[in-house]
Amino acid sequence: MSGKGKAAKGGELFIEASGRLRLIEKSAEQQALEKGKVECLGLTFDSEDERRVYFTGKLREKLADPEFRKTPGFPIGTDEDIIRMSDPPWYTACPNPFLDDFVRCYGKPFDPAEAYARDPFAVDTSVGKTDALYKAHSYHTKVPHLAIVPSILHYTEPGDIVLDGFAGSGMTGVAAQWCGAAPAEYRKQLEAQWQKDGRGKPKWGARRAILNDLGPAATFIAANYTLPFDVDAFAMAAQRISPRSRRNSAGCTRRCTPTARPRADQLHGVESFPARTARRN
Ligand SMILES: C[S@@+](CC[C@H](N)C(=O)[O-])C[C@H]1O[C@@H](n2cnc3c(N)ncnc32)[C@H](O)[C@@H]1O
Repeated sequence: MSGKGKAAKGGELFIEASGRLRLIEKSAEQQALEKGKVECLGLTFDSEDERRVYFTGKLREKLADPEFRKTPGFPIGTDEDIIRMSDPPWYTACPNPFLDDFVRCYGKPFDPAEAYARDPFAVDTSVGKTDALYKAHSYHTKVPHLAIVPSILHYTEPGDIVLDGFAGSGMTGVAAQWCGAAPAEYRKQLEAQWQKDGRGKPKWGARRAILNDLGPAATFIAANYTLPFDVDAFAMAAQRISPRSRRNSAGCTRRCTPTARPRADQLHGVESFPARTARRN
C-alpha cells in the first residue's frame, strides 16, 4: 500500500503493505518524494514502498531460518513485532542480516599500501548540549552530534563507513550525515576554528554509518534520528493531538506521585533485546 495505510485492529495505527507499523498518515509531499527511483544495496526500485516490501520479504525469509534466530542474544519477539519496528535493510529490530551487503556495496576493502595517519584529536564533548536536534530525544550518557562531527571529519574521508558498536540514540549516525548536510554558518565557524588551530580545511561530505546497540529502544531511537523523516505529516499529527494530549497529561500529573510520573522517553522493559541498524547516509 503506497499512500494510505489500513487501520490495524482496534486502533488508529497504520500497517504498510510490507507489514511495517507507521503511526502517522504520509503527507502528500512525502508520497511524492518516495515515488522516485531508489537505489539500495546495488538494486534499483521504483519507490521507497517497493524497496521496503522487497527487503521486508527478505527479512521474513531470514526470520524463518532457525539458524538466524540462534544468533546470540536474539530478541524475544515474534516475527511480526520485529517486522513492524524495522525498515529493512536500513534498520532491523534484530541482528541485521544485510550488514555484509551494506559493507560490500558501500565500503572499500582495506588496502595496507594506502598510507593512513592522523594526529590525536581532542574535542570538548559537552559542545552542542543545547542544540534542538540533541534535545529531540534524551538518552543516558548521550553525546551531542556537534561534539562528534569534528572527530569524524578529522579521522575519516567522505564516503567512508563509520562504525559505532555502542550507538545508543545514534548520535554518531546523525554526525556522519551532518558532515554532508551541515548548514553554511556551522561550516564557516568550524573552518575558522580549524584555521586558527593550524589544521587543514575539513573535508565536507557525508560518511555512511553502521549503528549497533544491545537495546532495541536505543536502535529504535537511533533509526528514527537517522532515517528520512516526514516533517509535514508529523506537524499535522502533532497539531491534531496536542490539545487532547495536554488535557490527558494534565490529568496524569495530578494523579501521579512525582517519582511515578511517566516520561515519554523512558522505554524500559525492552533493554534486554539486542538489535542492530545499518544506515546509508
Ligand atoms: C554510553 S551509551 C551510548 C550513548 C551514545 N553515545 C548516545 O549518544 O546516545 C552505551 C550504549 O552501549 C550499549 N551496550 C552495552 N553493552 C553492549 C553490548 N555488549 N553490545 C552492544 N551494545 C551495548 C548500551 O545499551 C548503551 O546504549
